[in-house]
Amino acid sequence: MTELFFQRHRRLRKTAGLRSMVKETYLHKEDLIYPIFVAEGENIKNEVASMPGVFQFSLDRLAEEIDEVVELGIPSIILFGLPLEKDAVGTQAYHNHGIIQEATRFVKKRHPELVVIADTCLCEYTDHGHCGVVDANEQILNDPSLDLLAKTAISQAEAGADIIAPSNMMDGFVTAIRQGLDEAGFADVPIMSYAVKYASAYYGPFRDAADGAPKFGDRKTYQMDYSNRMEAIREATSDVEEGADFLIVKPALAYLDIIRDVKNNFTTPIVAYNVSGEYAMVKAAAANGWINEKEIVLETLTGMKRAGSDIIMTYHAKDVARWLEDK
Ligand code: PBG
Ligand code: ZN
Repeated sequence: MTELFFQRHRRLRKTAGLRSMVKETYLHKEDLIYPIFVAEGENIKNEVASMPGVFQFSLDRLAEEIDEVVELGIPSIILFGLPLEKDAVGTQAYHNHGIIQEATRFVKKRHPELVVIADTCLCEYTDHGHCGVVDANEQILNDPSLDLLAKTAISQAEAGADIIAPSNMMDGFVTAIRQGLDEAGFADVPIMSYAVKYASAYYGPFRDAADGAPKFGDRKTYQMDYSNRMEAIREATSDVEEGADFLIVKPALAYLDIIRDVKNNFTTPIVAYNVSGEYAMVKAAAANGWINEKEIVLETLTGMKRAGSDIIMTYHAKDVARWLEDK
């Protein structure tokens, strides 16, 4: 027989023991951030129709959820608020007794060790549903929005938020918020910037969950065009220069290349946001018996880590923590 030379890659795949020795990427429950929706009102635990297993909670029902998160060893949550009242300037976003502020106080009192991240945006609090203030011609105004965002961040820090996560995509929001926090005595509160956030159809289910859909137009004048790769570097560069402590790339699944680019160009921790539409697709297919939910989710999230994310925000977090425990 003629001698064929080829590499025997299968040698390292021969047994479970060998495979575990050469495994390059691990998913840990410590990597996870679990998003929670808190609603003003009483006795609310509403499942989000397009996000099975995800609920809106009123404060009087929130304990069961955060106790479970702590029990599972997930170190961190991000809070989104559903206020009862909305207006043109999103007053409830920066109200001292706004839903996020009250929820933050509640969580920090009950579980001081749980890291509370406050999403800093106006869209859930404005009657027009945009992430900034809007003029008579339906233009989203950049600079006037910055003051309100800084006010929002300060009130969230005053309530005890451990991390401020601005998701509004106005230019200069990191500078405005950093300066606001510093002047208010919160120089030690980090900013986890949604630095690279694309205008995406994958946010559809979230807009039901957080009641934050724009009432006119879309978000394409402030969120990024999904065709663009270099623009992600520009966005991340400016946020790092302005003082961002973490960089978020969002969505994640269709943007693994962007996660890798950002990881290769910056030294901050990188966060992937495995968004609502990514979750909904998996849940729908799993409910039909078309995919193995556990295997799909572990593969997908490991892929996000392999792409370069250090941390993953995901609605699957509680399930993942359980699966990693019993494997
Ligand atoms: C609001 C915000 C959105 C998400 C997080 N913060 C929606 C949007 O920008 O329209 C999306 C999260 C998800 O889809 O899971 N600024
Ligand atoms: Zn917003």
